[in-house]
Amino acid sequence: MISKLPSIGETIFTTMNRIAAEAEAINLSQGFPGFSPDPKLLELIAHFTQNGNNQYAPMMGVPELRHAMVEKTAKCYGVNTHPDKEWTIVSGATQAVFSAVTAVVKRGDEVIVLEPAFDSYDPAILLNGGIPVHVELSPEDFAPDWDLIRSRINSKTKLIIVNTPHNPSGYVWTKNDLDQLAELVLEFGIYVVSDEVYEHIVFDGRKHHSLLTHPVLRSRTFVCGSFGKTFHITGWKIGYCIAVPELTIEFRKIHQYVTFTTVRPAQHALAAYLEDPNPYLELPSFYQKKRDLFLEGLSQTDFQFIPTQGSFFQQVSYAHLTDMSDMDLAKKVTRELKVACIPVSSFYSDAKDHKILRFCFAKEDSELEEAAKRLQGLSAIL
Ligand SMILES: Cc1ncc(COP(=O)(O)O)c(C=O)c1O
Repeated sequence: MISKLPSIGETIFTTMNRIAAEAEAINLSQGFPGFSPDPKLLELIAHFTQNGNNQYAPMMGVPELRHAMVEKTAKCYGVNTHPDKEWTIVSGATQAVFSAVTAVVKRGDEVIVLEPAFDSYDPAILLNGGIPVHVELSPEDFAPDWDLIRSRINSKTKLIIVNTPHNPSGYVWTKNDLDQLAELVLEFGIYVVSDEVYEHIVFDGRKHHSLLTHPVLRSRTFVCGSFGKTFHITGWKIGYCIAVPELTIEFRKIHQYVTFTTVRPAQHALAAYLEDPNPYLELPSFYQKKRDLFLEGLSQTDFQFIPTQGSFFQQVSYAHLTDMSDMDLAKKVTRELKVACIPVSSFYSDAKDHKILRFCFAKEDSELEEAAKRLQGLSAIL
């Protein structure tokens, strides 16, 4: 069979998870919490499965959850959204991004992808006959380079995919970034897919600036979110897309033929759970404690790093220590120091190697402390 995605093989997450299991390493590679969700949420999903709610949900999601999210969005961002015309509950942010890209991109359209980038963006573009145009984020701080982005836009550019807080770098977009993007949107009439799955994981008093908050961007953007990252339930694969009615109509035309609808009891459980805002309001301090604990340990190692601004990832540089490729070092650290990580070159289409590794700190404190201790052995394995 002729592959539709010939250059796509096993993902780096599968590779590193396998090596981590073989080495019995502490697994700080893939981005998922190493602890249980709130027991209240587990009780709620049990309750809703035992009391009906086991058949198809409405295509756009159950009204209780859409209404709860409208309220939350107004509280968090001061933005009013329409529960029926602008919200669609989907099977994870990955599906939201795929459906939004599919709604917009036609054969030959160019799509700007800011790299390093989450691995689902390119395949979504390619499967729709689009052409990914990769633009590098500044390698110093991973901020968007607006002049460079502008220089890559032309009459074929249809869409830009953005991600804030950013995986893998943790960079959190500023208001100025939103203004710069809005200028391009106005000038070139492009659409935006904004991946905001880490919206509640921001540090040192920073604020997440959702693209919903910008009037120009609000009218051209599909904002994609995930309950997985916010409530420690990545295995539930439940997320959402918010977009103005004109865009939502097109989004749903795709969504209804990808999955049609999304797991129902989870939607009811989340709607009830959202009555209490504390779980998401407390998330920044919950993760900041973990970040700081991990960084305290990392400061005893030979890695260099700048504390991550958001997300639950910390990048570390070893460029001052060796020329070894990040892929080789990631495997070596996993096998010999028994701490699994991800080489950041795997987030670049051309495998650009800035000698950076990514660690996920959404893990138990004891694991983070032990992992940092093991990483003190770095110089011994170089
Ligand atoms: C930037 C980014 N977007 C999307 C996702 C996937 O979200 P979901 O599990 O809701 O599909 C992830 C998960 O790692 C991610 O890091």
